[in-house]
Formats: sequence, C-alpha cells, structure tokens
Amino acid sequence: MKKVYLVGFMGSGKSAIGRRLSYFLRMPYYDMDKEIIRREGLTIPEIFEQKGEVYFRQKETQFLKEFRDEFCIIATGGGVSISEENRKIMRQTGLVLFLDAAFSDIWKRVHRDKNRPIVQKSTKEELEELYLKRRKYYLNAAHITVRTEGRSLRQIVDYAAFQINRLKGDHIGVEKA
Ligand code: S3P
Repeated sequence: MKKVYLVGFMGSGKSAIGRRLSYFLRMPYYDMDKEIIRREGLTIPEIFEQKGEVYFRQKETQFLKEFRDEFCIIATGGGVSISEENRKIMRQTGLVLFLDAAFSDIWKRVHRDKNRPIVQKSTKEELEELYLKRRKYYLNAAHITVRTEGRSLRQIVDYAAFQINRLKGDHIGVEKA
C-alpha cells in the first residue's frame, strides 16, 4: 500500500494540491488523465469523441490495475471513484484523500473549460446534480476528507500532509512522522 490517491470532482484542486503535496512529501506525482492521454496519443475530448466514454472508463480502471508499484501521489480523474472496482483498487493499494470543494468554487474554475467534455455537455444545474450524486462515492472511497472551502492551497496541503503522515503507518507501511 504505497500510493496516495487524490479524488474529487473536476476542479476540486486535485492537480494543484497533488503537485504541492509531492514536493512536501517528497513523493513523485502522476496525473491519471495525463498518463492516459500519453498512452492513447489523444486528448480527453478526442478520446470521448472518437472512442466514447465507456472506453475512457476502461482505460481508467486499466491504469489503476497496471500502474507501477511505487510510493507516489496520483491525481485521479473526477469520474474514477464512481466505479466500485476502482474504489476497491484504490483503497487496497493506498490511501485515498477526498478534496471536498464547494460547488460554487468548482463552477467558477471549470465552466469555461473546453478540455472537460462532461462540463461541455452539461448545464450548471446538471453539473451540480452530478456533483451531488458523485459526492457520496468520493466520501465512500476516502480514508481522509479535506474540506477546501475558505482555505488557501497552503493550508490544504499542510492539513493533507498531516493526515497522510498520521495514517500512513497503518496504511502504507512506513513509520509514523
Ligand atoms: C472527468 C474528469 C476529468 C477527466 C474527464 C472526465 C469526470 O478529470 O478525467 O474529463 O468524469 O469527472 P478532472 O477531474 O481532472 O477534471
């Protein structure tokens, strides 16, 4: 059990926090979407358009199953935790940290993003509905939940690192800090 998985809705700060945590904890950082883009040679909108969402979801599960066995931080895509199989793999191979952001903050960050097909095809109301529906899965997947509203990146990283250090003795097999 060596990995720290960051889960949460699109725009909850998984990559921004993941990169900083990587520096703070001296663990390499990977972005699942970027790994899939690299392997497929297509952007996320291209994968959705040419191969379909089901195919993309298969690639996400494949990534979780095959990704190298090393101490690292992985920012997952916002849809990864919907699958029970994915939640199980993540919980069995690492610590799962949920970045629990308010929908108003998420909307501000993502609503103009052309690289997120789910945002592109949804109205604000539909996206909020999806957010509420998925929140249960993130909570269900998580060992640690960090509320991000009103907190600076620095505060979130400090708190997340503290919780990871507190739990990693039990879950990752390293001495407690
Ligand atoms: C998705 C989230 C995206 C990306 C894809 C689908 C989702 O990742 O995997 O566009 O279903 O929520 P981010 O959470 O990094 O935006």
